[in-house]
Amino acid sequence: MIAMPQWAFVNDDFRPFSEAAFPLEDRGTQFGDGVYEVARIYRGTMFGFADHVQRMLTGADLIAIEHNWSVENLRPVFTELIRRNEQQDGIVYWQLTRGTAPRNHVFPHGVAANFMAYTRDYPDLSASWENGIKVIIAKDIRWLMCHVKSVNLLPNVLAKDAAARQGAGEALFEREGLGVIEGGSSNLFIVKDGVLKTPPLSEHILPGITRNYVLQLAAAAGIPAEQSYFSRQELLAADEVFITSTGVEVMPVVKVDEAVIADGVPGPLTRTLQQRYEAMISEAAGGR
Ligand code: PDD
Repeated sequence: MIAMPQWAFVNDDFRPFSEAAFPLEDRGTQFGDGVYEVARIYRGTMFGFADHVQRMLTGADLIAIEHNWSVENLRPVFTELIRRNEQQDGIVYWQLTRGTAPRNHVFPHGVAANFMAYTRDYPDLSASWENGIKVIIAKDIRWLMCHVKSVNLLPNVLAKDAAARQGAGEALFEREGLGVIEGGSSNLFIVKDGVLKTPPLSEHILPGITRNYVLQLAAAAGIPAEQSYFSRQELLAADEVFITSTGVEVMPVVKVDEAVIADGVPGPLTRTLQQRYEAMISEAAGGR
């Protein structure tokens, strides 16, 4: 069971998690008017902290949320939160919304943003990392600002629920005219003839922090990589498939719907990138 954390941070102070709350007219709750982030904690240290905060700042700018948060003033908040919760391994979740105001689609200006953060334990995925997972393909019914990590996650929630009901660990979104572009909460890579492929950054996908690290690790390992779209047919005919995210890290995919990928086991480039990612974590956090 995942234990409840002791402390959360809400706007300007630490509060017991069980008592922490957002107002009823928080615009994130009523309109999905906000952005969020998830970062991993390894050995009591946040991994990729500045990159996650930067993505939140960019997202908040793109939807014109006024706030005073920065890498500098968030760092001590997270450090203290992790210390209070004695969170050695796990995740930190945070959310920044357009604040509280009488319900109106037209948004107010000069209203203080609402911010909250808390930590959580994260499940052990060793068996899936070792054996790979099954995924399904779902129609991408999302909007055209998927590069903003907004709290509007209904299409993702529905697609991932369909996946779970079919015994799959992720749903891959297929966007008409583009191909299969990313997962419900992960980025997508394939390997064909020794070349790594992932869809390019655009308004159709989230610029994953893990995606970026994996592209850097591939370059360092001399693995050729291409940022280009690929179809469902190319995905099914790939030599290797894997997904990446803060949570699942580098996760091999061995089955897409009922089709087995290659010979049904994680491939060699996936293994290399898993190991290099593991080494990167160890270096950042002094080991797992
Ligand atoms: N999701 N694409 C989508 C749609 C995502 O929601 C996520 C992350 C990613 C991977 O991004 P990153 O490598 O920066 O975690 C790609 C988080 C983990 C979540 O919603 O829980």
